[in-house]
This record gives sequence, C-alpha cells and structure tokens, in this order.
Amino acid sequence: MDPLDRATLRVTMMPRDTNVHGTIFGGIILSYIDQAGAVHARRAGCANVVTVAMDGVVFHEPVYVGDLVSFRTDTERIGRTSLRVRVSVDVMRYDDASEVTVTEAQVVYVNVDDERKPVPIRS
Ligand SMILES: CC(C)(COP(=O)(O)OP(=O)(O)OC[C@H]1O[C@@H](n2cnc3c(N)ncnc32)[C@H](O)[C@@H]1OP(=O)(O)O)[C@@H](O)C(=O)NCCC(=O)NCCS
Repeated sequence: MDPLDRATLRVTMMPRDTNVHGTIFGGIILSYIDQAGAVHARRAGCANVVTVAMDGVVFHEPVYVGDLVSFRTDTERIGRTSLRVRVSVDVMRYDDASEVTVTEAQVVYVNVDDERKPVPIRS
C-alpha cells in the first residue's frame, strides 16, 4: 500500500502556516506530529494521554504551501503507563505530486487519569 494511504493524519498546508522564508514553520509540523501520535496512542489503548517527550526530529526537506502532508504512525514500544510512537512525515508536492520524506519523530505519551496521574495502559 502507498505509505500516504495509511496516514493517521493528512493536512494541506496553508499560507497562514508559513515562516518568514515563505516555507512552512517547523512548529506547525511538530504540532501535527503530536496530534497524529496522540490519535495513535488512543487507538492503541490509552484513554487520556499527555505528551512527555519528543525525540529525534530533524527536518530533511522544506514543506511548501499547498503540499499535502501525511503523518504515519507506528507503535515503537508499549510500557506500563507510557507508549512510544514513531511518526513519519511524508509530503506530496502541490506542483508535481512528487513524494518526499520530510522528517520523523519518536513521541512518548503517558496514559493518565482525571487527575493527570499515570495509569496502566489497558492491553
Ligand atoms: C507525563 C507525567 C504525567 C509523568 O509523570 P511522572 O510522575 O514523571 O510519571 P512516572 O515517573 O511514573 O513515569 C510515567 C511513565 O512515563 C515515562 N517517562 C517519564 N518521563 C519520561 C521521559 N522524559 N521520556 C520518556 N518516558 C518518560 C516513564 O518511563 C513511565 O513509563 P512506564 O510506566 O511505561 O514505564 C508528568 O511528567 C507530566 O504531567 N508532564 C507534563 C505533560 C504535559 O503537560 N505535556 C504537554 C506539554 S505542553
């Protein structure tokens, strides 16, 4: 299956998302990485999650207005109360529909109760 077809989240980048260079602000991508990982964590059995860590983010390519950005997620590790999710970010260019990998990240979520205390992830 095309990796873009199994994305947890897909977003088209808009002019409001740009930095002073006219490319997409890295923080926008980080925010979507966090959202995609959280969706994955809930599907994987977490009821309520908070993000405790985000590692290994390197931007290899710029993202432009109009690009369709896909956030694919995979479980890296399930702990007692935490879940490590790998988020891969791929882009389909607006101009020519070519596909490039922009970055990937490891995000750790903790399953918490109503008082935001860690609780075991149900299997
Ligand atoms: C996440 C939080 C609830 C963890 O509380 P804590 O008292 O440190 O909890 P614990 O020490 O029991 O750790 C809970 C789990 O998180 C993991 N963890 C804690 N800190 C971690 C880190 N820096 N990196 C990776 N995993 C971490 C632990 O290994 C443990 O996992 P496990 O149960 O699967 O073994 C607390 O740190 C918190 O509320 N942080 C703020 C979260 C937040 O608001 N995020 C959004 C930022 S805007």
